[in-house]
Amino acid sequence: TAPLKVGVAGLGTVGASVVRILGANAEEIAARAGRPIVVAAVSARDKGRNRGLDLSGASWHMDPSQLARSNDVDVVVELIGGAEGAARACVETAIEARRPVVTANKALLAKHGVAIARAAEAAGVTVGFEAAVAGGVPIVKTLREGLAGNRISRVFGILNGTCNYILTRMEKDKLGFAECLAEAQRLGYAEADPTFDIGGFDAAHKLALLASLAFGTEVDANGIYVEGIASITPFDLAMAEELGFRLKLLGIATRTDQGVEQRVHPSMLPKDSAIARVDGVTNAIEIDGDAVGALVLAGPGAGGDATASAVIADIIDIARGIHMPVFGAPASKLTAPVRAPMG
Ligand code: HSE
Repeated sequence: TAPLKVGVAGLGTVGASVVRILGANAEEIAARAGRPIVVAAVSARDKGRNRGLDLSGASWHMDPSQLARSNDVDVVVELIGGAEGAARACVETAIEARRPVVTANKALLAKHGVAIARAAEAAGVTVGFEAAVAGGVPIVKTLREGLAGNRISRVFGILNGTCNYILTRMEKDKLGFAECLAEAQRLGYAEADPTFDIGGFDAAHKLALLASLAFGTEVDANGIYVEGIASITPFDLAMAEELGFRLKLLGIATRTDQGVEQRVHPSMLPKDSAIARVDGVTNAIEIDGDAVGALVLAGPGAGGDATASAVIADIIDIARGIHMPVFGAPASKLTAPVRAPMG
């Protein structure tokens, strides 16, 4: 069968991992996808940089939108990042050209997801965004497929690996906030602008996407009460522990009689609960469904290879010919942003 030709726009931490893993696991991937998947085109700002990748079979495009328009590619993988600029233009151009898109860009989808979903559905193309929520954890597939028969009452959890890494190291290794953040950046977990992480906005972007999948709400990150972790001190963490709790930055979306309520803030969790025990860059999400009960998924929420794992899963679905509506769930409305204790 003809190979699926992938165009990768953005060769940062995640982009480089995607190219490398598509090569290294080519045999498994081809068997599962039913056809080979090859990197036919790439786009990045710096062509000369040595990334240790074999890009000999790929054409180079300086402009990601040019890659999105190129007849060399069947699928456009957007890993540039940012809600505007080159990333947005690349995704919109791909949809106009009726090419399916795979993206890890939660900021873009949180801001323009509704418009992008409408355009994609009108064009009949898939937009895969498994990698945009909780890195390597297959939470999008779980909500969309595994739990498709449930009425969901609540989705909540640790949605930012950088914050959980910082809180864990502050608590366990008694390190200072700035030192932990610098380490998270060095390990490639933090966003280009780490205020997105520590301010809670990255978690809010992911929560808006999760709420939309779980409840059919329109993606709206502005409808979320957001509080980050910048003011948490080692004393707060020690106090929580003494009282039998652990402090975690949680994203919470709950169905209420007034609509779906979304919030992100540091929360105290009983020490022995599944989510409280999750340390380091790991993300963990609990979904409460009427049929399944409580289901918890935990795993690496950031990092090049883990996020690439999710990107590649979406590419394989496209290779298999699977088409899904972008958010698809019965519509429900959002409440105005509220700050409320965890119920
Ligand atoms: N900066 C994000 C995090 C990366 O730390 O979770 C994954 O979206």
